[in-house]
Amino acid sequence: MKRKQGLEINAKIGLDRKDEFMSRLLRVESVMKYYGTKNNVTKAVDDISFTVKQGEFVGIMGASGSGKTTLLNLLGTIDTVSAGHIYLQEKDITELGKKELASFRRENLGFIFQDFQLLDTLTLEENIAFSLAMNHIDTKKIPIRVVEVAKKLGIEDILYKYPYEVSGGQKQRCACARAIITNPNLILADEPTGALDSKSATMLLKTMKQMNDQWDATIIMVTHDAFSASYADRILFLRDGQIFNEIVKGNQTRKQFFDQILDVMSVLGGDMQNVR
Ligand SMILES: Nc1ncnc2c1ncn2[C@@H]1O[C@H](COP(=O)(O)OP(=O)(O)OP(=O)(O)O)[C@@H](O)[C@H]1O
Ligand SMILES: [Mg+2]
Repeated sequence: MKRKQGLEINAKIGLDRKDEFMSRLLRVESVMKYYGTKNNVTKAVDDISFTVKQGEFVGIMGASGSGKTTLLNLLGTIDTVSAGHIYLQEKDITELGKKELASFRRENLGFIFQDFQLLDTLTLEENIAFSLAMNHIDTKKIPIRVVEVAKKLGIEDILYKYPYEVSGGQKQRCACARAIITNPNLILADEPTGALDSKSATMLLKTMKQMNDQWDATIIMVTHDAFSASYADRILFLRDGQIFNEIVKGNQTRKQFFDQILDVMSVLGGDMQNVR
């Protein structure tokens, strides 16, 4: 009986919609974030809605001050919404209490920051292992898992080093390993290539694409830069706290998508002047 009902529902909503419903990971609904006082309000995020499917790699672009970091911080529960709702796997994360937040972040999210945010007094291995230990993983299994991930990201030979002993690119790949090792539902990256030279940036983007392709990691990446953005499947463009454009890579090559991104940026002209 249950199965029959299910089939009927599927027939009603159609296959495409069913697919969308089943694989939807994140749903952002009319989210707002205001700063300041009544007489002097900054609408940093001003009524934003979108969804992200499991396994998508989404880029967020926009001029300086357009609300990119604010939006990412709301998704990461680092900041709280002024209004609206954010659902991760249909759970409303805007309603989580202080106590639930820490474990929610630890269990569901991975963060990659522009300035790496590694702990200086720990080796790379310890930095990566730290997030697993926090999740109460069997301590015997931790070194095996760290080496496995480090190998994939090409940093297994430098695991014993401290952050100050390695390059920016290597630090950022360590940050990627730290983000992915707990197998999070969602990885949030704010300008991850911002502090890297172009060679390290390319290597990092390939690493992120690899995490996306091989491990089905869902990634939301904020970036100023068209080259970085071209690694995503889809890009949301923000202006004054709102989404005003969205482009999808589809079957295009990365180069074609890169050109399309540049086109959007040039059409926007003055608005994107701050975009590096
Ligand atoms: N804590 C805060 N208090 C007050 N205003 C804030 C705060 N954080 C951000 N804003 C304002 O909200 C708007 C959006 O800022 P946000 O940092 O999200 O921009 P952004 O797109 O990430 O910019 P950038 O590219 O420079 O990093 C800006 O006008 C900013 O000044
Ligand atoms: Mg920012």
